[in-house]
Amino acid sequence: MKLKTKNLLTLAELSSKEFVGLIDESIKLKKELKKGGNKPVLKNKTLTMIFQKPSTRTRVSFEIGMYQLGGHAVNLSSNEMQLSRGESIEDTAKTLSRYSNCIMARVYDHKLLETLSEHASVPVINGLSDTFHPCQILADFMTIKEKKKKLKGLKIAWIGDGNNVCNSMIYGAALAGAKISIATPKGFEPNKTVVTQAKKSTTVELTTDPYTASKNADVIVADTFSSIHNLDKKRLQKFLPKYQVNDKLMKSAKKDAIFLHCLPAKRGQEVTASVIDGPQSVVWDEAENRLHTQKSLLAALIHA
Ligand code: CP
Ligand code: NVA
Repeated sequence: MKLKTKNLLTLAELSSKEFVGLIDESIKLKKELKKGGNKPVLKNKTLTMIFQKPSTRTRVSFEIGMYQLGGHAVNLSSNEMQLSRGESIEDTAKTLSRYSNCIMARVYDHKLLETLSEHASVPVINGLSDTFHPCQILADFMTIKEKKKKLKGLKIAWIGDGNNVCNSMIYGAALAGAKISIATPKGFEPNKTVVTQAKKSTTVELTTDPYTASKNADVIVADTFSSIHNLDKKRLQKFLPKYQVNDKLMKSAKKDAIFLHCLPAKRGQEVTASVIDGPQSVVWDEAENRLHTQKSLLAALIHA
């Protein structure tokens, strides 16, 4: 499939049909890989990856994903690039566009991705910014589709910080036709513009009570209380113990509810070991699915 958008920075660039189409294509690619290997649809294509922040899953799944589709990825840590010596993002975008067919970047300031995509002649993918993490949400909804066999009408409960992953989860829910309820402490709500946009196509509930969010939920989602851009330890006091996903909170959701976490996780903070390592947790499928969703995204964005 081909996408109308050149770049994927937030998920708001996608139609519902495209979002669901990418998920279905990812499920096909996963089956194809397990049957012996993917077709080399990105033969001789290249991806450059810029990292301003650490990464395990994003880096490895993009690099191996390109390889499995017959292409190649080049990993660049921003502090080893001329960016660290003051070369502009505009000049970096123009240079990388002459070498590679696509650029993926993990950055602090989301605006940097916008500048990068404006000056790059090739597609730009957001591999996480302070404001959004769209690739994670493609993998999350693929995992939900695999487990629940549908997306429309499900209830998702987000517990904790209204952060970058939460903002993208709200867009994902709107695109999938799922309801979402978000429980955060006061002052830690998700991005207002994202909530307003998503409310045009689905139910978005904001609450300070985790049990209001988890009631009748099909999916419970948690993420760290201290993101890479928010490492202040004092934050924890605002979240603990109320916003920890534990067995009691899981029991208050639907009986067959699943637990998602983008990882890395801190057991004993946002989630107990009994939940993340327990029978309702699907976090390893979720992590694996980063590989499959990124492949369908790369194949859809990189045109011949
Ligand atoms: N979930 C996620 O993006 O993981 P990494 O930070 O390891 O890439
Ligand atoms: N919210 C986390 C997600 C890490 C994948 C962060 O930004 O650090």
